[in-house]
Amino acid sequence: MEAMDLQELNQEEMNDEAPKVEAPPAILTGDRPTGRLHLGHYVGSLRERVRLQNSGEFEKVFIMIADAQALTDNASNPEKVRQNIIEVALDYFSCGIDPAKTTVFIQSQVPQLFELTAYYMNLVTVARVQRNPTVKSEIQMRGFNADVPVGFFTYPISQAADITAFKATTVPVGDDQLPMLEQTREIVRSFNRTYGPVLVEPEALIPFGEAAKRLPGLDGKSKMSKSLNNGIYLSDSTEEVAEKIKKMYTDEGHLRVEDPGKIEGNAVFTYLDAFCDDHHFADYLPEYANLQEMKEHYQRGGLGDVKCKKLLGSVLEETLEPIRARRKELEQDIPSVYAILEEGCAHAREVAEQTLHEVKDAMKINYFDDAALIAEQSERFSRS
Ligand code: TRP
Repeated sequence: MEAMDLQELNQEEMNDEAPKVEAPPAILTGDRPTGRLHLGHYVGSLRERVRLQNSGEFEKVFIMIADAQALTDNASNPEKVRQNIIEVALDYFSCGIDPAKTTVFIQSQVPQLFELTAYYMNLVTVARVQRNPTVKSEIQMRGFNADVPVGFFTYPISQAADITAFKATTVPVGDDQLPMLEQTREIVRSFNRTYGPVLVEPEALIPFGEAAKRLPGLDGKSKMSKSLNNGIYLSDSTEEVAEKIKKMYTDEGHLRVEDPGKIEGNAVFTYLDAFCDDHHFADYLPEYANLQEMKEHYQRGGLGDVKCKKLLGSVLEETLEPIRARRKELEQDIPSVYAILEEGCAHAREVAEQTLHEVKDAMKINYFDDAALIAEQSERFSRS
């Protein structure tokens, strides 16, 4: 009878909602530094981050260059990661990420993240990580099969540390990151239930509308990606961009200007969808009021690819030129860019240290701050 009572009690405790921790709105997000950032990153995330940073809705904004995570599948190539940290930082700052408003830091320089990871690992089962669909498909993509590095396998747990260390309420990411957010929320609930209310449950913020569609590569088929080298980079010159647009996939069936053309799967129109406003027509192509009118003409026939590509060139230049100019300026003083990152790391360490301290307090493993523990133990030993 007694045993049953106990079981019921445990059951009740398990079902108990984990205590919710309230926290001021804060953002954490990041990227693996494995290459320069391209237009796909810009429409999918950078543009949105700049908007969020400037919205005034968030007390703190952190952007992390996830070098340690990049090493989980690039262990033999730390040089690639090392080279790309500054590339990614330059891309951030030239797009309008402002170090006065956003703390940009490098993951490996915040050791507190690795301590948190170690404690969180005890709250997650191997089977649970194995179910993570993003990890699953990445393992397949990289051909790891049975040879998955432990570090790679556990990166969702380290990502939970990244997010919770900064008490992020909001994590702007692509939808491929949703499983990481779900894993993080589970760890938060498990921690708070086991040790007490410390960690904040984050929400994903997924870009909606046009931005949610992955920008395709120049071939119009696969998504724009570093590994396929089918992208337009934020740091590409005007000439490089023009060259790439020239080669861009349109509609194979649209041979002569008079032929009707297809919009679906036509990379030029997908890009115009992502970047074009009505004002671009007033400025560059006043014969159309907007993109819809232009599309209709293309579909009817009588509108050539060259003209469409010329408009796309002008539209992209309008976006890329200020980014390029700002990048050139920053490139003149690389030591200052590293100094900004170093300051960011110092601030990130302070914030993460505070959370780590609370975590260890809740776990009661801050032994030397624990006067009650020391008193209790001296009492116990004096009795014997
Ligand atoms: N996994 C993310 C990516 O591949 C990078 C990342 C690491 C991240 N830690 C994070 C994103 C924490 C959001 C929050 O792009």
